Amino acid sequence: MSWPPQVIVVAIDGSDQSQRAADLAAALARAHTSRLVMITVVRPPEGWWGVTGQPPSPEALSEALVEGQQEILRQAENRTNLAGIEYGTAEELGDPTSVILAACERESADLLVVGRRGAGLVERMVMGSVADRLAHHSPVPILIVP
Ligand SMILES: Nc1ncnc2c1ncn2[C@@H]1O[C@H](COP(=O)(O)OP(=O)(O)O)[C@@H](O)[C@H]1O
Ligand SMILES: [Mg+2]
Repeated sequence: MSWPPQVIVVAIDGSDQSQRAADLAAALARAHTSRLVMITVVRPPEGWWGVTGQPPSPEALSEALVEGQQEILRQAENRTNLAGIEYGTAEELGDPTSVILAACERESADLLVVGRRGAGLVERMVMGSVADRLAHHSPVPILIVP
């Protein structure tokens, strides 16, 4: 792990908080000449998990679901000032927390940036469950953006 960060991963779910996370991650990437990875995770509908215990193949998932998530990533790309930043995008399938953690390892991330809340229903007062679990399990420093 190096600091200043060489690689920054930011988790995008289409919420205002995740956009603020993207803005902050991009500003940090520019300041430190870091590579930026914007990742979004398609969460399969609850029922899918029970059938085989495996996430469904992208083909099996409804195209609309996958396309919707691609649109979220495109919007974040358009809304974020990425000028002069070396960046990549990743769209993956599965449990968001596990997939984001795996992406941090794969990309050798030095910093993970997430929103405090996300696009989910406001079920909890303090922190979203993805942000909460990431904060507890992230192997790299994590920046939680309100
Ligand atoms: N499916 C996802 N793909 C990528 N990032 C996500 C996903 N879900 C949540 N995140 C990240 O975690 C942050 C907090 O979201 P979350 O914990 O799900 O809160 P909520 O319960 O309000 O939806 C988001 O702002 C985003 O950065
Ligand atoms: Mg959520």
